[in-house]
Amino acid sequence: MSRTETRVPHHFALDERDAYRAWRERKLAGYPTSVGELVVEVADPTRLTPAERGALLERCARANMAIYAAPPRAHGAQDVLRAIGAQLGLHTLDINYLADDDGITPLAVAANGTRTQYIPYTNRPIRWHTDGYYNPPERAIRAMLLHCVQRAEQGGENRLLDHELAYIALRDANPEYIRALMRPHAMTIPARSEEGEVERGDQAGPVFSIDVDGRLHMRYTARTLSITWEDEPGVHAATQALANMLETDPRVLRVRMEPGMGLVCNNVLHDRAAFTDSDAHRRLILRARYYERVAAPA
Ligand SMILES: [Fe+2]
Repeated sequence: MSRTETRVPHHFALDERDAYRAWRERKLAGYPTSVGELVVEVADPTRLTPAERGALLERCARANMAIYAAPPRAHGAQDVLRAIGAQLGLHTLDINYLADDDGITPLAVAANGTRTQYIPYTNRPIRWHTDGYYNPPERAIRAMLLHCVQRAEQGGENRLLDHELAYIALRDANPEYIRALMRPHAMTIPARSEEGEVERGDQAGPVFSIDVDGRLHMRYTARTLSITWEDEPGVHAATQALANMLETDPRVLRVRMEPGMGLVCNNVLHDRAAFTDSDAHRRLILRARYYERVAAPA
């Protein structure tokens, strides 16, 4: 037995229906019904008060995500991102080939250069995904921060869904969907196809897995190019059900971040709408990806 298997909590075992039902009830009872429930007003994100920090951690514990709303500032957005992360237990940044040297990636429309080849650096929509789904297991992205420096003139909203809610919706519909999406080679990202990750080989792995701490981890992209799904009937059915659920589930939340706002999350499912920039509103989002999860509330 591997170390991972020994730590699977009962509620994630498909034959443990009572444990699952109890966990599911708790999770759904605490899940926000509007995006406003995720928002925490923060006076100075580089120095959270105990109450602000507690409110952010509590939302992450309930929904795997929180949104802070701070006054916009002219300078130092990178410091804000780093400081927010550190105060919430996030310390180890994943270094992306296209990121600036410090591991924080500015997402904006690129006028020229390598970045123009990758959708995140255009104004086009990005489909549902979790971040770093093409990373090897030793670089699994467990948490992610997005900080809005400037919004677009129009569009650029994010849809958000806690990946534990996606798990629940699929398991309720048919537990076999979960079994299929936990297959060790359910999803393969072919070599040299991803955002700046030009030096890696094929990356095969499950969609859902149980992390060493017993928490649910999800690798997923709804993209249809540069991805290979395992040729197996259960996997076909499960990916269709998942894609369909993401377009219809009433618990999907939507946010359009204003300058000074940011998303803190345990790498939940998200997408991005297309957008239009203007001279006054040229969208700039800073992104940081971490190997740790957001800390638990005290
Ligand atoms: Fe993303």
